[in-house]
Amino acid sequence: MRKVILDVDTGSDDAVAIVTAAFAKEVDLVALCSVWGNLPIDVTTDNTLRVVSAFDINVPVYRGCARPLVKDLVADYPPKKIRKLVDENGRPLSMHTPNMGLPETDRKAEDLPAAMFYVDYLRKADEKVTVVLVGPLTNFALALRIDERIIDKVEEVIVMGGGHHFANARPCAEANIWNDPEAAQIVLESGCKVTFVPLDATHQAYITWDDCVRMRKIGSPASVFCAEQIEQRIRVHSLTQPLEVPDSAAVHDPLCIAYIIDPSVLNDLRHVHMYVGQGGPGEGQTIVDGRYYTQKKNCWFAFNGDRDRFADILIRVLENSVVQS
Ligand code: RIB
Ligand code: CA
Repeated sequence: MRKVILDVDTGSDDAVAIVTAAFAKEVDLVALCSVWGNLPIDVTTDNTLRVVSAFDINVPVYRGCARPLVKDLVADYPPKKIRKLVDENGRPLSMHTPNMGLPETDRKAEDLPAAMFYVDYLRKADEKVTVVLVGPLTNFALALRIDERIIDKVEEVIVMGGGHHFANARPCAEANIWNDPEAAQIVLESGCKVTFVPLDATHQAYITWDDCVRMRKIGSPASVFCAEQIEQRIRVHSLTQPLEVPDSAAVHDPLCIAYIIDPSVLNDLRHVHMYVGQGGPGEGQTIVDGRYYTQKKNCWFAFNGDRDRFADILIRVLENSVVQS
């Protein structure tokens, strides 16, 4: 069982990642850290608290950074344009929603900010911990800047982010990296073992409507919730970024948890030297150095993912939620 800290900008796929980490027998989830990203920090923290409360997940939640480390220091930083979507009945539709249909909760975030939690927890840890980052990498990068010695307690950093042949936030950038490119570069240079689960893997390990039917059949509140979140993603994907396979969606974040459970869910995992574009048209791009002979390798990068295996892992883990709910 691996000890895991999961850093989330909850979010539909983050929510599925939290549930998957909580119910996987291979994962000992020690804490959740929130970060802004899909939604503002108040909302991602509240969504995280709603998820843990709704499914009796007994782990502390640490509120994290509300902004990137550096990139929006310039006052006229352009605001994100949000395209308003509606479904076939004219109802509003979005990839990530405030409250996610979950009830309000009395659960509160811990006092300590997330970056300080990393420093405090990892300094004292007597066992190595795997850090899974599925939002902008701000919290952990800040912790590394406060005390770089924490890397001694980190077994692996698993990042949902980046893309080689795929992008989403900008023509050549994925959202988690584009949101805080400086933080991503700090994590890359940390000296930790860093494994990237980029869009190349998550788009090829898509989840289908039929997989959601299987999840719903499990019948636990957690499995039905995950099916709902993924169905919502399928609707939005179909309207905005249809995948080759109809009625399917990339469900990015839980693929990182699936990789902990069964590393063979990532295919074509290559040890590479990579850096992150800082500014200009390549801002936030994960640039894999093609000169195999020059640079020291600094991360592992998955160029593909196994869709059938991923779907089976999700179903198998959600079956645990029946026993425990
Ligand atoms: O680009 C996909 C990533 O950005 C996912 O982690 C999603 O939740 C958003 O954070
Ligand atoms: Ca996320």
